[in-house]
Amino acid sequence: MNKDKFTVTAALPYANGPLHLGHVAGVYLPSDIFVRFLRMNGHDVAFICGSDEHGAAITLRAKKEDVSPKEIVDKYNALIGQAFNDFDISFDIFHRTSAPIHHETAQEFFTVLNEKGEFTKQTSQQYYDEEYDQFLADRYLTGVCPNCKSTNAYGDQCESCGSSLSPTDLINPVSTLSGKAPIMKETSHWYLPMERHEVWLKDWIQEGRLNGVQQHDPKAWRNQVVGQCMSWINNGLRPRAMTRDLDWGVKVPVEGVDGKVLYVWLDAPIGYISATKQWALDNNKDWKDYWTGDRKLVHFIGKDNIVFHAIIFPILLKTHGDLVLPDNVPAYEFLNLEGDKFSTSRNWAVWLHEYISDYPDKIDELKYVLTSIAPETKDSEFTWKEYQTRINSELADILGNFVNRALVLTHKYYDGNVPARGELTSYDQEVLEDLKAIPGRISALIYQYKLREAQSEAMNLARLGNKYLADTEPWKVIKEDPERVQTIMNLALQITANLSIVLQPFLPATAKKLSDFLTFNSNDWNTAGGDELLPQGHTVNKPSILFQKIEDELVEKEIEKLKSSTMEESKFDPQKAETSFDDFMKMDIRLGKILEAEKVEKADKLLKLLVDTGLDKRTIVSGIAEHYKPEEVIGKTVTVLMNLAPRKIRGVESQGMILMAENEDGELSFVGSEKDFEAGCGIH
Ligand code: MF3
Ligand code: ZN
Repeated sequence: MNKDKFTVTAALPYANGPLHLGHVAGVYLPSDIFVRFLRMNGHDVAFICGSDEHGAAITLRAKKEDVSPKEIVDKYNALIGQAFNDFDISFDIFHRTSAPIHHETAQEFFTVLNEKGEFTKQTSQQYYDEEYDQFLADRYLTGVCPNCKSTNAYGDQCESCGSSLSPTDLINPVSTLSGKAPIMKETSHWYLPMERHEVWLKDWIQEGRLNGVQQHDPKAWRNQVVGQCMSWINNGLRPRAMTRDLDWGVKVPVEGVDGKVLYVWLDAPIGYISATKQWALDNNKDWKDYWTGDRKLVHFIGKDNIVFHAIIFPILLKTHGDLVLPDNVPAYEFLNLEGDKFSTSRNWAVWLHEYISDYPDKIDELKYVLTSIAPETKDSEFTWKEYQTRINSELADILGNFVNRALVLTHKYYDGNVPARGELTSYDQEVLEDLKAIPGRISALIYQYKLREAQSEAMNLARLGNKYLADTEPWKVIKEDPERVQTIMNLALQITANLSIVLQPFLPATAKKLSDFLTFNSNDWNTAGGDELLPQGHTVNKPSILFQKIEDELVEKEIEKLKSSTMEESKFDPQKAETSFDDFMKMDIRLGKILEAEKVEKADKLLKLLVDTGLDKRTIVSGIAEHYKPEEVIGKTVTVLMNLAPRKIRGVESQGMILMAENEDGELSFVGSEKDFEAGCGIH
C-alpha cells in the first residue's frame, strides 16, 4: 500500500490580473484533483498556493493602471483568492508573498546561502533607463529574440519560443518604461553560479526521467520537462543574478545594501515554504515535516515555469540543505481558446471569476470539460461548442441519465428501498468484474499524473452503468420477471454508489449530490470497487436532474461576448484608472505660444522654450529636441500644463509642461487650436 507523504504546490499566480481558463486547466484543477485523490487514499498531504506579488509583472501593471503596486496586489490577491474559493479548489492555504513571514523566510534563505558562499558577487554594466533612473532587467526590457526573432521577447524570457534569455541577449533592447533604448551603467549583484551544479543536476534529472522505464515506477517525469531541462543544461549553465535594483520586493538582507531586492524567481518559490509555515502555525503543525525527510514534493506548473522549478529552485533547495527536492514537476502545455492563444492584453479569454458569476451552478461542468481537454502532453483548445457537446452528450446523456434511471426506477418499483440481489447472470458477473477493476485503473493513472485519462476511466463506470440498464431493459423485464429486475436494480445502485466515490476528485459537487441521493457517503478510495456498498433495504432519495443541457444560445452568446470584447493587440497604453472631475479640474491647461527655442547643452533630447501663456512668459523645458529643430517650433500654438510643480531639468527650471500627442512609432505632434485661438485661452 502506497502511503507516501506529499507536499503539493500549485504555481503561485502573479497578482497582476484575473485567472483565465488556461491557468485553471493547466495548474489549479489538475493539482486539486491529484490532492483530493491523495486525501481519499489516506496520504498525509499539504496543498500549498498563494499569490506571487513581486517582480516586474506587478510593478509594470501598477504603472499601466497608474496605481501603486500594493493596490494591484491587494486587488488581484482578493479576486484570485475568491475565484479559487468559489471554484472549490481545496488548497490548505492560499497565501501571499507580500506577507511579513514570507519576507523573513526569503531573507533567511538568502542569508543561509550567502553565508555558505553559494553566491558570487559580480559588478557589471547593465541596461539603465536614464529617464526613469532605473536599471532594466527582466520584463523591463523588450527586444528581438536572438533565437526565434520574435519582436517582443523580454529581458529574461522569450514567450514565443520559450527560451530563457539574459538582457544582453536581446537584439535592439528597448526600455518598457520609457520606450527608449537603454544606456549601460555599472551595478553589482549576487549571482547563483549554476554551472557548479551541472553534474548532479544532470544525474538527478535523468533519474526523474528513468523513474518508470526501469522500475515500472509510474512517476517518470514528463518528456517536455526532461527535454527543457537537458537543453538548458547542455547549452551551458551560467551564473544568474539573484538580486535586482528595484524597490518593490524582498529587500536584500545585507548590512549597508539599499535599493536592492531579491530576484522574483528567487523569492516566489520560497513562497511555497513560507505559505507552509503560515499554515503550520495556524494548524499546530511543524512546517519542517512538509519539507524534509521522505516527503514527496510535487510542483504543478505551466511549461513556461519549468526551468525555475526543475533547475533553479532545486539548486536553491539543495544548497540550503536539509530540504527535499521535487519528486516530480508535472508541467502543463498551453490551452488555447477558440482557435487563438489566450491573451490578457487583447482580452481574448474566458475569465474564471466571470464564468463563476455567470454560471454559479455549472462549476463541475466546467471542471469536467477542462479536465477532458487538459493540455497534459500537448497544447489543446477550449471551444464553447465542445463545452456544450461534452456536457450534453457525456455528463447529461451518460452520467446524468444513468443515475436518474437507477434512482427513479428504484422509487417506482421499490419505494426507494434497495432490492435484494438474486442469482447473477454471466453478464452481471462481467459487469461486476469491470466495476471492481475501474478504481484501480483510475488510481494507477492518477499516480502517473494522467488525470485526463483518469477522469475518462471514471466516466467509464457511468458508461458501464448506462449500458447495463440499456442492455438489461428492466422497464420491459419488470412485467415477466420482476425478480430479475431486483438484481438489475441492485447492481445499478451499487454502480451509482461507486460513482459517488470515484467522481469525488474530479467532480466533488456532483459526487456530493450522488451521496445525498443515495444517503451513502464514503471518502475512502479503498471502498471503491465494492459491489455491496448499499445493503438490501437501504433507502435512497428521489433524484433531481444532475446536469442541465447546454442550449445553443449559451454557446452563441459566449462566442459573441468573446468577439465583441476582444481588442486588437494595441500599441497604445490601456486606459488609465478612473479619475474624478475634481481632480481633473485641479489641472490648469491653456493654450500657449512658443516665442523662443534653443537646445539645452549636453542634453540631446531637450529644448528650452520661452512660452507666452497669456498670463506671463515662462520657461519650459521639453523633451522634443529629437523631433523638432528650435526654428521649427517658434510661433507654434501649443497646449501647456501650467500648474505642474516647477522642476529643474539639467540645471534649467521648467515652469510647466507642453502636452504632446505620441503615435505608435514614438513620433510627436503638438496639440494646438483648430481655430487659432490666442495664448491664454483655458482648456477644459
Ligand atoms: N507567478 C509565476 C507565473 O505566473 C509562477 C510563480 S511559481 C513560484 O508564471 F514558484 F515561483 F512561486
Ligand atoms: Zn524566441
